[in-house]
Amino acid sequence: MTHSSTTRSVAPGRSVLVTGTTGFVGKHLAKFLEDRGNDILAVERSAGGLRHSSKTTRVVRGDLSDKDFMSNLNAKVDAIVHAATNSGRRCPNLQQVQQDNIESVRNLLAYATRVECRQFINLSSVSVHGDFSGSVLDRDAPLHGTTPYGASKLAAENILRLQENLDVFSIRLPAVVGSFAPPHWLGRLLMQARQNKKLTCYNPHLFFNNVVHVEDLCQFVSHLIGLPERSIFSAFPIASAEALRVRDVLQVIRSEARSLSRIELLGERQPHFIIDDNFARERYGFTSVTTREALQRFVRDELAA
Ligand SMILES: NC(=O)c1ccc[n+]([C@@H]2O[C@H](COP(=O)([O-])OP(=O)(O)OC[C@H]3O[C@@H](n4cnc5c(N)ncnc54)[C@H](OP(=O)(O)O)[C@@H]3O)[C@@H](O)[C@H]2O)c1
Repeated sequence: MTHSSTTRSVAPGRSVLVTGTTGFVGKHLAKFLEDRGNDILAVERSAGGLRHSSKTTRVVRGDLSDKDFMSNLNAKVDAIVHAATNSGRRCPNLQQVQQDNIESVRNLLAYATRVECRQFINLSSVSVHGDFSGSVLDRDAPLHGTTPYGASKLAAENILRLQENLDVFSIRLPAVVGSFAPPHWLGRLLMQARQNKKLTCYNPHLFFNNVVHVEDLCQFVSHLIGLPERSIFSAFPIASAEALRVRDVLQVIRSEARSLSRIELLGERQPHFIIDDNFARERYGFTSVTTREALQRFVRDELAA
C-alpha cells in the first residue's frame, strides 16, 4: 500500500459533467477538477451549490431524474462524474430514493450516448455489499443491497455494467471525510469528543480503514479522467492506507480535538470489516493518506469549519 498522497497531472482542457454539486463530494470535485484545468458543466437540482458560472464552469439547474430536462441537455463532455445521490437522509421516501439513484443514471447514460461521451465515473458505496459478514471487504465481496439506498446504488451499478462503448469506473466508497461532510458516526464521535462526553466503541482491538479523505477521492477521480479509453466496467472499493485499531481511532479523534473525553471499550460486535482496496491501488494507481492522517485532517477540517 502507498502511504501518502501524490500529485498527478491530468490532461488539461477536458470537459466534465459533474452532478451533485450542491452536495459535499460533488462540490469538492467540481472545484478540484476546475483547478486542474478541466471545463466543468455542473448540473444542480437546488440552489446553494457552486453559485455562479465562470469562464471554466457552467452551472445548469435541473433534476437528473427528469427525462425531459435531461433530453434537452446537449453540451458535449468528455467525461461524466456522477456524485449526485439520494442517501435517504433528507428524503427517506423509497420511491424518491429509487428515482434519484436509478432514473438519474438511466438519463445520464442516454445523455452520454447522445453526446458521445466515453467515460462515466460513478460514485457508489460499500453499501452495495449490504450486511457484509466477512472480515475483509474487497471488490469480489457478495453484492446485495439491504437498505433502499444500498439496493438503489447496486441497481445503478448493474445498469452501468451493461453499457458498451463506455468506460465505467464505479468507486465504492466508505465514509468520506472533509470540509462540510454530512454527519456519519465519525462526526458523531467528534461531536461527543468536543463536548468532553464519554466515547465508546465496539471491537476496540479490530482494525479500521473504512474512511477516505475527500482530497484523495478528488485526486483519484482526476487521475481516472486522464486514463485512455478501454470500454470497460470496473467497480471496486477504496479506503485509507494503514488500518488503525478501532480504539486508536477514538484516541486520534480525542487527541486531535484536544478533548478530555473518557474512552470506554466495549466487546465485539458484528458486522465489522476492513477494506482491501489493493485492486484500485495496483490497477488504477489510487493513493491515499493513512487512516490516522485522514482522521487527523477530518478533525482539523471540522474544527476549522
Ligand atoms: N459522504 C459519504 O460519506 C459517502 C459515503 C459513501 C458513498 N458516498 C457517495 O458519494 C457520492 C456523493 O455523496 P455526498 O455525501 O456528496 O452526498 P450529498 O451531500 O447528500 O449530496 C447529494 C447531491 O445529489 C444531488 N441530487 C440527488 N438527487 C438528485 C437529482 N435527482 N437531480 C439532481 N441532483 C440530485 C443533491 O441535490 P439536492 O441538493 O438538490 O438534494 C446533492 O447535490 C454519492 O454517490 C454517495 O452515494 C458518499
